[in-house]
Amino acid sequence: MESFPHDKHVLLGVTGSIAAYKSVLILRRLMEAGARVTVVMTSSAQQFIAPLTFQVLSRRPVYTSLFDPSDEIRHLTLAEQVDLILIAPATANIIGKIANGIADDLLTTLVTASRAPMVMAPAMDGDMWNYPVLQRNLSVLDGLGVHIVPPEEGLLASGKEGVGRLAPEEKILSAVLSRLNRREDLAGETVLVTAGPTQEPLDPVRYLTNRSSGKMGYALARAARGRGARVILVSGPTHLPCPANVERALVQTAAEMRDAVHRYFPETTLLIMAAAVADYRPRLRSEQKLKKEASTLFLELEPTPDILADLRSERGDRIMVGFAAETGNLLKRARAKLEQKGLDLIVANDVTQEGAGFDLDTNIVTLMNARGETTALPKLSKAETAERILDEIVKLKAGSRPKDRTLR
Ligand code: PMT
Repeated sequence: MESFPHDKHVLLGVTGSIAAYKSVLILRRLMEAGARVTVVMTSSAQQFIAPLTFQVLSRRPVYTSLFDPSDEIRHLTLAEQVDLILIAPATANIIGKIANGIADDLLTTLVTASRAPMVMAPAMDGDMWNYPVLQRNLSVLDGLGVHIVPPEEGLLASGKEGVGRLAPEEKILSAVLSRLNRREDLAGETVLVTAGPTQEPLDPVRYLTNRSSGKMGYALARAARGRGARVILVSGPTHLPCPANVERALVQTAAEMRDAVHRYFPETTLLIMAAAVADYRPRLRSEQKLKKEASTLFLELEPTPDILADLRSERGDRIMVGFAAETGNLLKRARAKLEQKGLDLIVANDVTQEGAGFDLDTNIVTLMNARGETTALPKLSKAETAERILDEIVKLKAGSRPKDRTLR
């Protein structure tokens, strides 16, 4: 694990879940690592564990109420003082409140007033975890840059098996560390990221598309923003909210994506094409809805513009990164695309692997640079995958990039 930065003040928010007792272990680990920790508990958290436990272990007062008699405005002073807010365990209730800007107790008011980065580790029953409104609220928080450490599968307090167990302490600690150690190593860069699918219309009501959700590209946009870059996100149709402080252009077709990428390319220093751009589109788009008349319907398709390959001659000193979504011969095909499109780096994912590819929160990728060097990453969240891709790009920027950009 990375080393813990010196003299950091972490606010540990504890909410009303049976997993609240595990916050004690998290508190101990944070303190062993050298952090100053202030604990804030909601009233339901106190039904599960007493504030005194945290007070003794943290050697600091534990705050439970917005209205404690005090000469300071507690929620404002704490909000300004802390370097990071960790809410573990985070219940469906606190997630819903924070995602919707509700500030009705000390913890939620403090979150509203603070600009410190936030990490949340949800814990709840499996059916609650799968509730669509909760998932929507998590997407909102994700879009705002909150680092969510997803719960794990296992035996739940209800006696049922499912997803909902608080993530292990190591994972929570490592998320806290990566937020605290975040570097501004892309400051001064303008990063153009493409994300999501394209839709190629057949008629006014139908289109050809693919299963890309946009999650990988949005994670990259958020991570690049977090490292200090100006980020422009050219996005195909998705349901994802625009990440905070990212400029977004919404497009539908490959041709529209090409136009948007060309529009922003002159101001771009780094292009990352994570979008799953259609390779073919219908040659003709019917003005009227196609009628069910013949027993067989033949569609004539034509190639779409290859956005990356077309930019090869105009790239100058820009770093260009592509993705390869493959279902076999991963490295051979990725290498061919890297060469053909003149890229500095290609991110190859075998989308047949469990936990990799389309519409998931995780990915399994191999990074291949223009020297032909490969780095295989394990299954990671798309947020973590994005960070590792950016680490590799920062290394390339540091000077080892070959001039001719051909494989050796
Ligand atoms: O969006 P998610 O659900 O999170 O899924 C993530 C993902 C699987 C879509 C992502 O990880 C991924 O692999 N994206 C690239 C998918 C793809 O289109 O791969 P490709 O091998 O067909 O294309 C190679 C590269 O050329 C890509 O960078 C692509 O953006 C680019 N391309 C493709 C076609 C085209 N006409 N122009 C292009 O620039």
